[in-house]
Amino acid sequence: MKNSEIQKIIDAAISARSNAYAPYSRFSVGAAVLCSDGTVYTGCNIENASYPCGICAERVAFAKAISDGRRDFAAVAVTGSSAEKCTPCGICRQFMYEFSPDMHVVCCDKEGNYSEHTLYELLPHGFGGRSMK
Ligand code: THU
Repeated sequence: MKNSEIQKIIDAAISARSNAYAPYSRFSVGAAVLCSDGTVYTGCNIENASYPCGICAERVAFAKAISDGRRDFAAVAVTGSSAEKCTPCGICRQFMYEFSPDMHVVCCDKEGNYSEHTLYELLPHGFGGRSMK
């Protein structure tokens, strides 16, 4: 991953975080996915009074991209509103694994300090994707 590409999606994720609707947890999350064609889609977490209806920032970003016809992803950046680096939840890991098990996952704190992983490292032997090819 080029540093400029990583910085681009970190900035986009931090910006998307400002749209988070998180009145229950008060934990805002932003995500930005870099498609293999260079397009970037963003998402934020959206909570609900009926708690299980809520959705994570990552799945919002990916749903926007997938419903726009994208299928191949190079990287995703995730940022939460705390000093801890935000790592994707298990449901989001499986959701993303379906499309690009090798994509880079950039886990950021609120200021954009990050650690970089591959999705396969975060979800080894996940179901589908690679294991079905
Ligand atoms: N959340 C995300 O949006 N992405 C993550 O990777 C971790 C958790 C959201 C879900 C919920 O709205 C809030 O953060 C607290 O769990």
